[in-house]
Amino acid sequence: MQKDRQYMLTVEELSRLNGWRPKEVMAALDETELVRRSHIQTAVRPGMVKKFLQENGMDYTPRVVAHINLKGGTGKTTSAISTASRAAQYGFRTCIIDMDSQASASFAFGMVPEDEDPIFCDVWQNPADMVMGAVREISEYLYILPSSLDNGLLDMQLINPAAQKNAVNGVCEELIRNGFHLIVLDCPPSLGTAIISTICASDTIVIPLGHDAFSKKGLELTIEEVHSICDTFNLDLPGIRLLFTKFDRRIKMARESFDRLFARYPETMIPFPIRTSSEFSKTLEKNETIFASTRKNSAREDYDAYVRTLLGLDKSFSQENG
Ligand SMILES: Nc1ncnc2c1ncn2[C@@H]1O[C@H](COP(=O)(O)OP(=O)(O)OP(=O)(O)O)[C@@H](O)[C@H]1O
Ligand SMILES: [Mg+2]
Repeated sequence: MQKDRQYMLTVEELSRLNGWRPKEVMAALDETELVRRSHIQTAVRPGMVKKFLQENGMDYTPRVVAHINLKGGTGKTTSAISTASRAAQYGFRTCIIDMDSQASASFAFGMVPEDEDPIFCDVWQNPADMVMGAVREISEYLYILPSSLDNGLLDMQLINPAAQKNAVNGVCEELIRNGFHLIVLDCPPSLGTAIISTICASDTIVIPLGHDAFSKKGLELTIEEVHSICDTFNLDLPGIRLLFTKFDRRIKMARESFDRLFARYPETMIPFPIRTSSEFSKTLEKNETIFASTRKNSAREDYDAYVRTLLGLDKSFSQENG
């Protein structure tokens, strides 16, 4: 119950989304779905958030979003776990698939599997029987298929191109059949079969990157790779979004780099960066994400704006209201 309470949107946050007053939002919600946290703060269970947002035009069509950059340390895991926990609060039944044998996303939630617990490499061949027994609940609407070093076996298991094309897709389809609206994949920083299979299954690929030259090299390689894999397997190109992370506006090179990338990829680039913040390491130490508390900070603000852009939340409200 304690964990449940952590990952919930507040009435005030919901009211800010559509411009209603908190009292008006409260009146539209089912009282049994509200959790009073303090005399000023009331949280809303994700199922009720979904019902409310759906009535306001939000689209919950299932989608698969992967975080990929062949360069390491660019903010893939941070983006994946922040996106997933915020999306769950917005009423998306969300599952993170940890594809990285470093297992950083699994560590982040304190969900490191025991030897006998199934992980991706144990379930992809038989998703209908294996997947739902392998995912673990972090909180209401937020689940994870954890990873461990054993996922390193994937490069051997997925030698056959047909297996590469279908492995991640089969697992995602099974999750969607079981009511998930959003699958968030966290990928390793290397080109292997896990990435190839992830690209084949994704609706959207988010490429987190910083201002350093290696990060940009990673961007070029990742975009090339996405095109080449879609060509090879005769698949439609997924949507590509670039997310500028660890932005420090005091660094001239960071400002210039953001502006240059935005000028070059005006449609693809998320139009604001994620600022550097110490909140990420502070919350990780507690096995939480930045959305576990409602305390205001730039990390929360930036990833919330990003998730709203990614999921089309702002767009549905502006269409609905005017
Ligand atoms: N906006 C940010 N501000 C400050 N620190 C950040 C930010 N984003 C990520 N970090 C930190 O940078 C480090 C690398 O981030 P993260 O693990 O998300 O990268 P990654 O791309 O998943 O790395 P890998 O390639 O090893 O999987 C972590 O310590 C993380 O807490
Ligand atoms: Mg990572």
